[in-house]
Amino acid sequence: MDTVVSGIRPTGNLHLGNYFGAVRNFIKMQQDYNSFFFVADYHSLTTHPNPADLNTSVRQVLAEYLACGIDPEKCTLYIQSDVPETAELYLLLNMLAYVGELERSTSFKDKIRMHPDNVNAGLLTYPVLMAADIIIHRAHKVPVGKDQQQHLEMTRNFVNRFNHLYGVNYFPEPEAFNFSEELIKVPGLDGSGKMGKSAAEGNTIFLVDEPEAIRKKVMRAVTDTGPVEPNQPKSESIANIFTLMKLVSDSDTVEHFESSYNNCTIRYGDMKKQLAEDMIRFIAPIQQQIKKFFADTELLHTIVSHGAEKAKESAAITVNEVRKIIGIKKF
Ligand code: TYM
Repeated sequence: MDTVVSGIRPTGNLHLGNYFGAVRNFIKMQQDYNSFFFVADYHSLTTHPNPADLNTSVRQVLAEYLACGIDPEKCTLYIQSDVPETAELYLLLNMLAYVGELERSTSFKDKIRMHPDNVNAGLLTYPVLMAADIIIHRAHKVPVGKDQQQHLEMTRNFVNRFNHLYGVNYFPEPEAFNFSEELIKVPGLDGSGKMGKSAAEGNTIFLVDEPEAIRKKVMRAVTDTGPVEPNQPKSESIANIFTLMKLVSDSDTVEHFESSYNNCTIRYGDMKKQLAEDMIRFIAPIQQQIKKFFADTELLHTIVSHGAEKAKESAAITVNEVRKIIGIKKF
């Protein structure tokens, strides 16, 4: 049976980008794969979060995972730092990662542009830690959004380098995965770019957003002056609104607005009203569950303790094998 691994950084609440880019795929995969899902708390340390906030964010992401339908009976759900074997594998993989390739990573370049005052080594080696997360369970598939594609390519490079250097075929080559044909990028509401935690306020719809907040954000979404001729190609901001609508609305609704766009009768205000209501309807059942899980400390504790045990068992096998392959042996 193929193995699946994926994680999310606890740096804020989950949003629709996380849901449709990654979590929706986890949920489908947990039935049929040997699945590991974790909260990537080590990864979030690059920005030096305040310790109390970090703890709350880990708990929040866990509650959100569970509310979305991640089922600890079907998969292994754990917190990254509960499995320190990952940190050992990260150290070992660092010997196979070249500074030049790490410096060329798009996410590193973006981060140093955004935070020139905090270009720490953890940022540079972020893709190595991510590779360690993935190969610690010898994963085959990694459900992620399009923004993580390059990290997966880097993981494959490290895997191939390891297998080649030591003349083994120990690690499978993991691939980024989405049930649709392609990895997806959920757009934000500001007319360009992706939905994301660090993007401007108003660009992102969080799973904990109250209906009024969703209506406000969606009604402010960037549009254009409207089509002036039939079947006119869509501007980026309008294409983004259609993309979001395809995720949360039923197909009749999407078709209705497609045809009114194509015959130039569309009213963007109506479309946005509909989109906001469909987002609210989509999020409502998840939101109720988030509150329930977040309040149940005992349940969360039981789930992650059990998850850590299972994840450590799998990770220890890999680390012991890797030590042997590399030549680290007990006297
Ligand atoms: P993070 O926490 O930024 O995002 C978590 C997941 O959500 C996806 N995502 C999106 N997908 C589509 N459209 C969007 N607008 C959008 N925004 C976010 C991301 O692609 C990701 O799948 N480095 C990772 C966390 C991580 C990880 C791993 C993932 C650490 N180790 C090992 C997979 C395997 C990150 O920062 O994701």
